[in-house]
Amino acid sequence: MSETAKATARSAFVAHFGRDPQGIAFAPGRVNLIGDHVDYQDGLVLPMPVREGTAVARRARDDGQVRVLAKDMGAEDAFAVAAPDKPSQPDWRSYVRGMVALMAEEDVGIGADLVIAGDLPRGSGLSSSASLCVALGRALLAASEQEMVITRLARIAQRVEHDYAGVACGIMDQMAVAACEPGHALLLDCRDLSHRSVALPKGWHVSVHDSGVTRQLVDGAYNERRSTCETVAEKLGVASLRDAELSMLDNADLSEREHKRARHVISEIARVQKAADVLEAGDIERFGGLLQASHASLRDNFEVSLPAIDAVVEELSEQIGPQGGARMTGAGFGGSIVAVSDKSLSEGMPVFP
Ligand code: GLA
Repeated sequence: MSETAKATARSAFVAHFGRDPQGIAFAPGRVNLIGDHVDYQDGLVLPMPVREGTAVARRARDDGQVRVLAKDMGAEDAFAVAAPDKPSQPDWRSYVRGMVALMAEEDVGIGADLVIAGDLPRGSGLSSSASLCVALGRALLAASEQEMVITRLARIAQRVEHDYAGVACGIMDQMAVAACEPGHALLLDCRDLSHRSVALPKGWHVSVHDSGVTRQLVDGAYNERRSTCETVAEKLGVASLRDAELSMLDNADLSEREHKRARHVISEIARVQKAADVLEAGDIERFGGLLQASHASLRDNFEVSLPAIDAVVEELSEQIGPQGGARMTGAGFGGSIVAVSDKSLSEGMPVFP
């Protein structure tokens, strides 16, 4: 857990509000090892936490007001718990106001002084917004001396993305951020949110590498991919592509684009199941092969990679050799590449060990 973000939140709280916080909540970012663009089709995913994340220092108020400083932005906000308007353009305040409003609907309505500080690189696709929402939720729970099951907190954080930020995301990021254990991958079934932690074997190295492209135009392209998958599921007569098989695609009335999108989702879900098995067996060579296949499918079938990402994946794959692999991670269109290797790589942000 990131001591840097927590120390920054604490000292900024004292400087801004003139007294000590009552506590500091934290939630990490996540990197997805495998299973992208399948969570909103009830698929399986295998994320793990990064060390960096978001810290929220808090002190309860008894006047129903929220005052918040976003330390990294140098920006402030103030509003009443009972009536937080949505900002006209989504920005960091949307997440704060959204979490406060939706937690209040769940009887966690409490005024608070809050300071947010994070050390996740921005625009890197490591779920900084899910990390912010879950850390805020934890701070509000602590301020009101309540507890909540992880799945409920994750669902609230997901609703904030949908209703306050306009992104029709799945549930992977919020569940990963809320439930992942350090040094473990989380095998999550997005259909029923059942999950279990799988320890990374000794000798495996996981790192995150920057594509050099900040994520752009993601929301429109993301929502479009999601709705294409929903159309295909409807044409196939299944509730989601989790229930579909590759053989069903050949007899269905699908455009070439629909065919490719569905091919990715169905094959990726199967790869995640295999990846969890070979992770448990400690077979890094087969795990690496699955990462390479996942990347190829995201690039060619789902078309969410970029030449800059492909170039980094290729470079890393050459460096790693057969004992491991690399792939784009997250929504795509920029962001990060995840690498798994039997040796520590000279560049990148270490995630494990
Ligand atoms: C984003 C979304 C997730 C998931 C990934 C792609 O991170 O927030 O729900 O769909 O993209 O796997």
